[in-house]
Amino acid sequence: MAAASVQGPSESNDRILRSEPTERILRSEPTERILRSEPTERILRIQGGQRLDGRVRISGAKNAALKALAASLLTDEEVVLNNVPMIADVLSMAELLREFGAEVEVDRANERVRVQTRQVARTDAPPSLFKATRASVVVTGPMLARAGEISFALPGGDQIGKRPIDMHLKGFARMGTEVERGEDVVHARVKRLHGARIYMDYPSHTGTEALMMAATRAAGTTTIMNASYEPEIVWLGNMLNRMGARISGLGTPFITIEGVERLRGVSEIVLPDRLEAATFAVAAVITGGQITLEDVTGVHLVPIAEKLAEAGAEVWRQDNRMLIKAGSELRAVDIQTLPYPGFPTDSQSTFMPLLTQATGVSRVHERVYEDRLRYTDELLKMGADIRVQAFGENREVLATSAEVHGPTPLTGARVRSLDIRSAVGVVLAGLVAEGETQITDVHHIDRGYQDFVGKLAAVGADIVDTDPPA
Ligand code: EPU
Repeated sequence: MAAASVQGPSESNDRILRSEPTERILRSEPTERILRSEPTERILRIQGGQRLDGRVRISGAKNAALKALAASLLTDEEVVLNNVPMIADVLSMAELLREFGAEVEVDRANERVRVQTRQVARTDAPPSLFKATRASVVVTGPMLARAGEISFALPGGDQIGKRPIDMHLKGFARMGTEVERGEDVVHARVKRLHGARIYMDYPSHTGTEALMMAATRAAGTTTIMNASYEPEIVWLGNMLNRMGARISGLGTPFITIEGVERLRGVSEIVLPDRLEAATFAVAAVITGGQITLEDVTGVHLVPIAEKLAEAGAEVWRQDNRMLIKAGSELRAVDIQTLPYPGFPTDSQSTFMPLLTQATGVSRVHERVYEDRLRYTDELLKMGADIRVQAFGENREVLATSAEVHGPTPLTGARVRSLDIRSAVGVVLAGLVAEGETQITDVHHIDRGYQDFVGKLAAVGADIVDTDPPA
């Protein structure tokens, strides 16, 4: 097989790595643009029809690295994180930590971030930074534990549903925090958190993380019931234990945290990004090719591997590698998204283009977010036959399920990215479409995928970024 390795830094990354000092990188223009949430003129141009073949090294998980950065606020010692994806959301979190008084060094070449917060300098989060990502909400837990106070604007992130934070706030209140909610601002204050029994109505991912981190330094024992046990949470809990926390029950819906007086520094390796891995797995199958995913944790990819196999693909696994190969046919499969180990909601939009190429009718039921199918309009522009069932009134039309009729040939078109995950979904559709696909609002991809274009090009995709990040 004509293997194209992307193990080392790709060319565009290399340019970034050779160049600027940390300070400039942190305040680089694309990050600034993303923080201001401004769309750019940049577009991705893809000529469809190339079969992808080669190896892709999977980066560290965004949704673990961001929480580990937040966890660094729990100690005055140094926290070193390796295998950190060099993406805009990480840079944005680094900025937020700096505002709180942390010294943060981002070493792009080694994918390493060092953080040390000797003292918390302020407890009011700058609104534009806080709103830049949904993940910023997890700093609330460490800030309450360390400084006893935080005020923040309601967090941002992708527009995929309502995304409230009531479970985080209810949990803090159970631990003795006074929570005041203004129109757009929340002010939380506590003398010292105390342990509590917390039942979550839904196993919120960031909710579990924020409460678990807060409880590590609370007086007494906290139990979180109906906790989320996504792999990134288990990984974070283990990191906290290495910092001196006393957490048990990780990987189950019952987490117990015995509070301790202080936590110490730690050096960690961020676990692989299962969502990036799923994206490249689909890229292999949709183009009729084969890709070896390197540096993955196989068990975290079980839902993806099972569905790909059911659709007719070949999936081989050995140690921390997975070979994904298109089969002789592509069959329709049904998908419903659920918390782990259910099929991840973040891979729903990644699978959708694949289903347009499968024979038969696939049914997709989005059960985590109430509004995560809007992007399918973009695939319709390319010729897909996706019938979304919508409900609601006026501007509140919501959709949670879709029927995908396939196979339908896709044709290149000018399409838009709506959020991180649907952005890569339209790229995958472009890989198999006839002619040129142009994708706008590309900044969404920078938020969550390290060198996405470079990695795709290295395995044979004909894809160009008209204005790659500096
Ligand atoms: N929910 C509530 N109340 C709450 C919290 C959540 O009703 O207080 C509901 C939400 O509205 C949603 C469901 O619970 O319908 C799931 O939300 P959850 O809180 O679990 O999601 P999250 O923590 O905001 C994280 C990831 C998402 C990922 C979900 C599900 C981060 C920064 N984000 O979001 O990732 O989709 O968990 O696994 O960790 C992405 O990476 O692109 C992304 C969107």
